[in-house]
Amino acid sequence: MLAKAPRGTRDILPGEVEEWSTLETFFRNLCKNYNYREIRTPIFEHTELFSRSVGEDTDIVGKEMYTFLDKGKRSLTLRPEGTASTVRAFLEHKMYAQAQPTKLFYFGPMFRYDRPQAGRYRQFHQLGAEAFGSASPEIDAEIICLAMDFFQSAGLNQLSLEINSVGCPQCRPGYREEIRKILEKNRRDLCPDCQSRFETNPLRILDCKIEGCREVTLQVPEILDHLCSYCVQHFEDVINFLKLLEISYQVNPKLVRGLDYYTNTAFEIVDTGLGSQNSLGGGGRYDGLVETCGGSATPGVGFAIGLERVLLSLEQQSSQLEYTEESRIFVATLGPSASARGLQLVTELRRNGIAAEKDYQDRSLKAQMKQADRVGAAKVLILGEEELEKGKIVLRDMEKGDQREVELEEILQILKNDL
Ligand code: HAM
Repeated sequence: MLAKAPRGTRDILPGEVEEWSTLETFFRNLCKNYNYREIRTPIFEHTELFSRSVGEDTDIVGKEMYTFLDKGKRSLTLRPEGTASTVRAFLEHKMYAQAQPTKLFYFGPMFRYDRPQAGRYRQFHQLGAEAFGSASPEIDAEIICLAMDFFQSAGLNQLSLEINSVGCPQCRPGYREEIRKILEKNRRDLCPDCQSRFETNPLRILDCKIEGCREVTLQVPEILDHLCSYCVQHFEDVINFLKLLEISYQVNPKLVRGLDYYTNTAFEIVDTGLGSQNSLGGGGRYDGLVETCGGSATPGVGFAIGLERVLLSLEQQSSQLEYTEESRIFVATLGPSASARGLQLVTELRRNGIAAEKDYQDRSLKAQMKQADRVGAAKVLILGEEELEKGKIVLRDMEKGDQREVELEEILQILKNDL
């Protein structure tokens, strides 16, 4: 028990961390190019923030939140997603008073008490971006383009972008009623979750994965035929901007998404080869959310990508992320005074921006050469008592396999010129 991480969580080990930080760097660089700025919000928030924004009737709020009372009896929740916190910060720091849009991105752990399986964890990590203050369909296209560019930079080109419009508070209630009217007679054929969705949010019945529910919903007309004229035009414009940016897409009229704050655009990026947890990322527009959280009406649009799923997808297509390991110097020493001088030398190298390592176990030269190999050293410096006395050091090139003796005092300069 003590030596096992809690169910649904995992360690990201050395070797994996390099891949993670490579993906983070891709995302950070892209966001910079798109003029999105990083925000870091707390890991926990007031529970009410999520119940109000994500929606009381969603699975996330109803079943999956890590909620607890702190010692002051406040109800707090480990964030299950990043949008609500970003909206809260947008309001708290009066970002609406700046020139709009406000474009933000984030990266970090999220928590959902979900049933763990491949690609589904209780602590997982999202890369996300949110743009506030513009209802323009251009910014929907921009946000989708940013997400797709990220996948492209990670080497995932076989993904499918599914898009839909979920309407707005003007046209959605009518469609909801229409669904209820049509499904009334089949109510008992629905799964237990969908039977309660029938009351609370019948739209979500449309994207239930259970076969019985799928069959029943075949009779429901598409939401796209029930949108008001504003929503029809907005959706058409988003699609046209996607075409302009040469982004392939598939309209999926059943796409609803599991969070209640969406209006108009909803989208998901899916890896069809990935089994049941195939959604690598998703997002959409949420023009009512800032108001729900206590601000004045402010449109918004964003997405989040699940990093664990990106890595799973890369693994499935046997793609390796290209990242360069930092070349490293290994200082092999023989004897106590050489070892002390070696410690001084690795410190000097490190302070000059050169990655360096030495032995601390008093190992034999042969063992130290093996260790140099293990740490991926491109060059090894060998310092024995004899060299130390002469003020020299041996510089061995591990790739070429040759070595030469150089002045100890000049070694830093030589390495700087070489690397
Ligand atoms: P979401 O669809 O709930 O949207 O999550 C986005 C992504 O996070 C999913 O596509 C998936 O890759 C990953 N994800 C979700 N749950 C898990 C889990 N249990 N284990 C591993 N990965 C998971 C949101 O969270 C919205 N906040 C997105 C958004 C931003 N909409 C507008 N702005």
